[in-house]
This record gives sequence, C-alpha cells and structure tokens, in this order.
Amino acid sequence: MKVVIFSLIIVGALLMVVNIIFYIRLMRRMRDVISGGVRRDNIMVSFGLVLLIFFLGGYIFVGIYADPHLVTSLILFFGSLFVSVVVILLTRLLQTSKERSLEITEVLADIIDTRGQHNEGHVLHVKNLMDLFYKYLPRNIQSEYSLVSIEYAALLHDVGRSSIPQEIVDKKGELTPEEEEIVRVHPQVTVRLLRGVKSFDYISDWLLYHHEKADGTGYYFKKGDSIPLPSKMLAICDAYSKLIKDMDHDAAIAIIQDRVNKDFDEELVHIFVSIPKEDILACLPKRK
Ligand SMILES: [Fe+2]
Repeated sequence: MKVVIFSLIIVGALLMVVNIIFYIRLMRRMRDVISGGVRRDNIMVSFGLVLLIFFLGGYIFVGIYADPHLVTSLILFFGSLFVSVVVILLTRLLQTSKERSLEITEVLADIIDTRGQHNEGHVLHVKNLMDLFYKYLPRNIQSEYSLVSIEYAALLHDVGRSSIPQEIVDKKGELTPEEEEIVRVHPQVTVRLLRGVKSFDYISDWLLYHHEKADGTGYYFKKGDSIPLPSKMLAICDAYSKLIKDMDHDAAIAIIQDRVNKDFDEELVHIFVSIPKEDILACLPKRK
C-alpha cells in the first residue's frame, strides 16, 4: 500500500511541475495585443501561479513529513489532474479566441485594403510575409515581440489609408505636394482609428513609423534604433509585396538589397533574403 501511496504522491507532484511549466507558457502567450494589457487580469494570472507553486509545496510537505493515507494521496493526485484539465482548457480557449479574432480582423482588413490600395490582397500578403519573417528572427528578438502582435500590426498597418480620397488612391501620375501631404498622414489616422482598443497602444508606434527609412528620409524623419523593429520589418514586407506585382522574386529581392541603409535596415534585409525563395513565394494569399 505504501508503494501505491508513494507513487500517487510522486506522479501527482510531477504532474504539478508540468502544470506550472504549461501555466508559465500560457502567461507568456497572454502578453500580446489581444490578451494582454488588462492590469486586473495580470494580477489574477500571477496569483494563479502563486497558488500552483503553493500546491506543489503542499505536495512535497505531505509526501515527506505527513505520512499520507491512501485517501489523502488520491485527493492530491486527482487535484493535480484537475489542474491539468483546467490549464489545457484555458490554453485551448485562448488559442481558439485568438484564431477567431485574427480571422475576423483579416476579413475586415482585407475589405479596407481592397479600397485603399491598388493591389488586391496586399495586406494579407504582408501578414503572411511578416509571419514567415518572424520565424527567421534570432531568438532574443523573438522573445521581445509576440507573433500575435506582429500579425495584428501587419493586418492593420494601413487602415488609415481609408481616409485618403478615392481620386488620390486612383491617381495614376505624380501626386501634388498637397496630395502627398494627405497620403503622408495616413499612419497617424491609423493610430487614431485604433485608439479605441486600449491594448493596441502597444503596437501604435510600430504602425506610426512603418514608412520610416534607414537613412532618416521617411515620413517623420526617424532613423536607426529610433524606428521600432516591427516597423522596419513592415517596411521590407510592404515593399516586397508591392514589387512582386510587377516583377519576379529575384528582381524584387535585388531592389530591396540595393536599398539597404537607404530605405531598409541592413541586418533585417540580410535575414529576409536568407529565407528560401519558395517559402517567400508561398506567402501570396490564396483567394477562396
Ligand atoms: Fe502605409
């Protein structure tokens, strides 16, 4: 009997350690534009972790000092199993709600994009490229930015273009200085439109500076490290998506490489061009 009791305590304690690891992973996944930013929730989540660690401490105490009975060990074991079920359910619920939310945003962003751009499917293409680009970033950079936030930035970066009058959108020739000024403010309009969603504060600078250039000649004359890294990524993906409409992959990549340290960040271009050609080409959105 002692062996059964001891085994239940050991397995339950190990399960609790796994629960804590998965709970910490869940906490990390909550740091993005969709699930982050609510202070009250953050406190609750942190409190949940403290409770789990306390529960594990209880296991160790009972296992070593309390000489537990079979009933006690069964209660502890099933308690641990129950926590596993809750953590798995929470993870799946969070994943599902994020997927639905992203799908809805994709549809809405695509509708706005169809009006605001000359090239249909551009925003979905940029989002796919940013997804891929993110996977090739060094781990230390990945840990600074959540993929979900990057995806939303990609989808929403140009919603402010909806403020540009249709005649300017459709104009074939050169824009007048007044028309250029109207186009130039679209990142500010994007930020203003998204101000209603509090957690989007986190990505507002990424959106605001997506037309900045490495040499400081962009819309707001930012350069170097003062431009957020996701904005620099957006600039590359945005340019590639537009270039590929009129030329093949190699020609588009050659132009991007030629614009290193002028329009684009050197290190990021180096990463982007290292991505296999077939993977980049697979980012073109497939129309249903
Ligand atoms: Fe833009």
